[in-house]
Amino acid sequence: MKVLIHDSAEAAVAAIANRIVEKVIAKPTCVLGLATGGTVEPVYDAMVQKYEQQKVSYSRIRTFNLDEYVGLSPDHPMSYHHFMEKHLFGRTDIKSENTSIPFGNAVNPNEEARRYEAAIKQCGGIDCQLLGIGENGHIGFNEPTSSLSSTVRIKTLAPETVRANSRYFKNIAEVPRLSITMGIGTILCAREIVLIAIGDNKSKAVLEMIEGPLSARCPASALQLHPHAEVYLDEVAASQLTLRDYYEAVHPNGKVES
Ligand code: GLP
Repeated sequence: MKVLIHDSAEAAVAAIANRIVEKVIAKPTCVLGLATGGTVEPVYDAMVQKYEQQKVSYSRIRTFNLDEYVGLSPDHPMSYHHFMEKHLFGRTDIKSENTSIPFGNAVNPNEEARRYEAAIKQCGGIDCQLLGIGENGHIGFNEPTSSLSSTVRIKTLAPETVRANSRYFKNIAEVPRLSITMGIGTILCAREIVLIAIGDNKSKAVLEMIEGPLSARCPASALQLHPHAEVYLDEVAASQLTLRDYYEAVHPNGKVES
């Protein structure tokens, strides 16, 4: 795992967005795994800016999002379909027929989960998966104790995730309790993974993810098993790491060779 510590949130965001854009330029037909959440909003802003500056085109990429709330239709304002349209898809030349997000309103959510896992495989798998991280170490909606080899399935949100995500809803009672999410095994199949974590509220999860132990208690610690994972941090999110000198010696200012 490459631990890339940046001196500000802005620098970490710019670095991870540049990394993704570089990958699209190198392989215009690449398959991207995408995430939602407040942390990735500025990453998408930076990707949109590169498109507006005509530095990149997303017209040939294929995308698969991590997850969706069960029970929300794509046009629901709090759905991840809506989030993606607002922050990325609707602002670039990404073709909507080349984007995929699980359907939270599917009549049979278990069948939808199977369909989604198969669709990722049919596409030849994900080249680069973007991730955020929950305060409890979740990735996608894989809450603590998720199987480390899980595939796309229905997961119940942890109470702390319901609380954290309630900031986007009118009240906590409106937050769906179930999600369809890529599994940890699905995520680990991506050929490359880039994760971003910003701020003090993520520093404990960041410590557990990077310095272990490998445990379903912290789902993001599964990234320790991945041969090509990069973690983009600001100084605050990195503040609890005990081997920080080492990470900074290997990657001064979060620099990574391309
Ligand atoms: C949600 C998403 C995750 C995301 C997490 C953190 O629960 N399912 O993919 O990483 O929130 O979000 P934020 O960046 O808003 O802290």
